[in-house]
Amino acid sequence: MRIWSLGRLISPAVAALILAFGLLVVPAVAQNGSSGSNPTAQAVNEQQLLDELNKVQGRITIPDRKAATLQQPQGRDYQGFHERALPWIGAIAIIGMLLVLALFYLFRGRIRTLAGESGIRILRFNALERLAHWTTATAFIILAITGLNFVFGKRLLMPLIGPEAFSTWSIWAKYAHDFVAWAFMLGVLVMLVLWVWDNFPDRYDANWLKSAGGMFDKSNRTHPPAGRFNTGQKLIFWAVVLGGIALSASGIFMLFPFAFTDINGMQTAQYIHAIVGVLLIAVMIAHIYIGTLGMEGAYEAMGSGTVDLNWAKEHHSVWVDEQQAKTKGGVPPHTAPTPAE
Ligand code: HEM
Repeated sequence: MRIWSLGRLISPAVAALILAFGLLVVPAVAQNGSSGSNPTAQAVNEQQLLDELNKVQGRITIPDRKAATLQQPQGRDYQGFHERALPWIGAIAIIGMLLVLALFYLFRGRIRTLAGESGIRILRFNALERLAHWTTATAFIILAITGLNFVFGKRLLMPLIGPEAFSTWSIWAKYAHDFVAWAFMLGVLVMLVLWVWDNFPDRYDANWLKSAGGMFDKSNRTHPPAGRFNTGQKLIFWAVVLGGIALSASGIFMLFPFAFTDINGMQTAQYIHAIVGVLLIAVMIAHIYIGTLGMEGAYEAMGSGTVDLNWAKEHHSVWVDEQQAKTKGGVPPHTAPTPAE
């Protein structure tokens, strides 16, 4: 009877002890493991895996082996670049260029032809040159608008037109970007073949650069000698050619995803494409400014293909001399009278 009552007292105490052990000690051991580590707990610790292996990878049974990599640090870096750095780089380059041009216009106004019109027009760009230029220009403008949609569309356009309209527009913008790219590549290639010889450095470049082409001379009397293209135009030409090659190569990598490279190569292609793209847009804004509003008589060169002789003498005196030499001192070939008003 005494033994029984002692047992009645001890059993709850033992049970309570076992329960306390179970509640407090077992989970702690389970978490740390008897050896101080638990492989299962570590296997799902994403940050530790990222730190140790640089990526989170698993086993898959579908054919696309890339799907086995769930995430890797470069992917996050790329997302950070695309979502934060790129819009800033783009906005600073493009808005910065517009501001610089506005200031330049306020300072210098429209660059006029000092001697006025001579009435004699000379051929500056033939039909093939103009076709190549306008094909490239039209394609570039479409690529620029649809390309900027990738960077700014979600932030600026979607709040204005709503998600449905933005989605429809973005699908068409993406198709346009993919197909018009080929016209741009062809155009750049033709311009390269047509103009490369006129765009190598020559002995007039240093002097042209020293006086900045006379662009900051408000009296408009500084006209450094230049061949068919002056140094500023040569810089534009090489920006278009080298930028065009970088955009084309990186763009082809993106048009055929993973055909030539792995995920890291794809991300590198996107970095190059995006940065060269926004910078070239800023450069082309300056080119379009000087070819239209910025300089009297410039647009006609690419519009009708002819320019006034006085304009040519002021901006491309060496080229005019070369053209006149071909006609032994007479007016250059392909001249045409100014059309009747
Ligand atoms: C509406 C847009 C554009 C206008 C009004 C325009 C106008 C002009 C003009 C007037 C010239 C001849 C300058 C001269 O007589 O010396 C020219 C040349 C040239 N354009 Fe354009 N252009 C435009 C867009 C583009 C674009 C988008 C590209 C390429 C992506 C481009 C590439 C070139 C190149 C490489 C030259 C020869 C080098 C130079 O003069 O700077 N243009 N453009």
